[in-house]
Amino acid sequence: MKIAVFAGDGIGPEVTAQALRVLDELSLPGLTLFEGDVGAVAYRRHGQPLPDETLEMARAADAVLFGAVGDFSCDDLPRHLRPEQAILGLRSELGLFANLRPAAGFPGLEHLSSLKPEIARSIDVLVVRELNGDVYFGDKGERASAGGREGWDAMSYNEAEVRRIAHTAFRAAMGRGKRLTSVDKANVLETSRIWRETVIDVAKDYPEVTLDHMYVDNAAMQMVKAPGQFDTIVTGNLFGDILSDQASACVGSIGLLASASLGERQTEHGTFGLYEPIHGSAPDIAGQDKANPVAAVLSLAMLLRHSLGREDEAVRVERAVEGILAEGIFGGDLGGNATTGEIGDAIVSKLLTIS
Ligand code: NAI
Ligand code: MG
Repeated sequence: MKIAVFAGDGIGPEVTAQALRVLDELSLPGLTLFEGDVGAVAYRRHGQPLPDETLEMARAADAVLFGAVGDFSCDDLPRHLRPEQAILGLRSELGLFANLRPAAGFPGLEHLSSLKPEIARSIDVLVVRELNGDVYFGDKGERASAGGREGWDAMSYNEAEVRRIAHTAFRAAMGRGKRLTSVDKANVLETSRIWRETVIDVAKDYPEVTLDHMYVDNAAMQMVKAPGQFDTIVTGNLFGDILSDQASACVGSIGLLASASLGERQTEHGTFGLYEPIHGSAPDIAGQDKANPVAAVLSLAMLLRHSLGREDEAVRVERAVEGILAEGIFGGDLGGNATTGEIGDAIVSKLLTIS
């Protein structure tokens, strides 16, 4: 098993270091780590935010553990040399078409949510968003019209695209509560009609999963009214962009939330993927030992689950994180005073108490 570690810029290396301590504590046999440069640090060393050797390292690995990229010193560089190109380049070069964003309420942190505590406590949803298609990638342009300049963007999904994201979502639902909600707008969009029919067809391969369908406007309402009803959601790029951010806000701090971007390639024990916190490089707090490493540690848990087939270890890491948060061990972002290193220490100690 090979993991490529790209810690990147700002707080990226600080939070990734804590995730690596947790990984070390698990003592997985036959695991090799490779470290590569991405972002501003890669630009300074190699003249590019995503050097060829970094990309090759990712291709040769079972999974990528990614920190964050971004540095204000690069603001004046042309777009293709900006640090953020590293993550965009990895997503497209590695064919990462499925974005998984879990959002679950943490006991004791309900006050961070924009929702009432009793509703925040009930959230435990995984949003599976298609990343390579939809209106973002369709034909687009500007034309003259009777009403002045008119912008247009074509929305489309073909069966093959829907099929592969649906399989990813059903597999993810199998590892959770075995309930999948497909979100579309099939009452008005042809794209959504094909989407829905295809998802229904794929469902035949997963008889244990209960599938239902929801229109996106209703899903947005239900996410804030009664989010506890959702287990796993699968949706297209546009609806998923909005719903995944909405689900995150229902939980609270950006320093708590992890994500996975999965590709098509199967590894020995799972699916190749890239795992990263949803936050960025946070230059305002970089180098101050203030960053919350929880999102990075939970990204590692997702990596263990989806790419290495290590469900037991993934659950142990998640329990350890829940444990320390419930004990009130957290940093400034959550109103506490623990440093990045102290939070890492606490997670590692807690891990030893969980079998
Ligand atoms: P950001 O997520 O880096 O920070 C937003 C706010 O949240 C800041 O006040 C920061 O201090 C705080 N914050 C973020 N993560 C935290 C953590 N783990 N613990 C405690 N507080 C935390 O977003 P921002 O400021 O918009 O972007 C900063 C840089 O990061 C930019 O260069 C941006 O392009 C880049 N970025 C990179 C991403 C990636 O690598 N995937 C994603 C988002 C932004
Ligand atoms: Mg977004």
